[in-house]
Amino acid sequence: MNTLHVNADFEQRVVVNAPDPASWVASPQPGVRRHLLDRVGGEVARATSIVRYDAGSSFARHTHGGGEEFLVLEGTFSDEDGDYPEGSYVRNPPGTSHAPSSRDGCTLFVKLWQFTAGDNVPVRIATRESAWSPGLVPGLSVMPLHEFDGVSTALVRWAPNTRFNAHTHPGGEEILVLQGRFRDEHGEYPVGTWLRNPRWSRHTPFTGAEGALIYVKVGLFGAALLQPAASAA
Ligand SMILES: [Fe+2]
Ligand SMILES: [Fe+2]
Repeated sequence: MNTLHVNADFEQRVVVNAPDPASWVASPQPGVRRHLLDRVGGEVARATSIVRYDAGSSFARHTHGGGEEFLVLEGTFSDEDGDYPEGSYVRNPPGTSHAPSSRDGCTLFVKLWQFTAGDNVPVRIATRESAWSPGLVPGLSVMPLHEFDGVSTALVRWAPNTRFNAHTHPGGEEILVLQGRFRDEHGEYPVGTWLRNPRWSRHTPFTGAEGALIYVKVGLFGAALLQPAASAA
């Protein structure tokens, strides 16, 4: 098994554009393609990807040795437990298994092997039907998704022309732009952009006329993540 490294230096800031026809790579399963965001390892890998299931495709039954987190970006993902429509946020803890498929096709944001020890509670959140809370500044709304061991994941909605305070991320920050256009003093990030800001990075984010909806995770790069066994392949 070849080891594949993509954006594997977590001290580096990374910005990856939305998937385009050239950025998709085949998976071991016909009809399932990946747009790699970061990846360390072979077929068993610590990986963050956008995964596209063509209509009628399925993926082999597998066990999540290090846990699986995903957000359904479009379409409906299914496994033997049920259907997960657009907006579903799911965490399958280490040791769980399933046989996924998609009848009509779907696109997911997926993170594998990014759990810490003891994070064993399955999560199922229908974000399209869940409540928002006011954020720290006017124009900001927050939907917490998960928090464990200093790692926090949320959806954050930015009204047009919202400006947040300058802040530092001791444990780094990861953002996927779900709607609109997110901005900070380092750049502009249209819908579909993924960015990874390293530990102790600092920025002052804001939005323009479009506003934005983002998935954001902080603290991950300071966390003691479960390690894939060296012999796993
Ligand atoms: Fe899975
Ligand atoms: Fe930030």
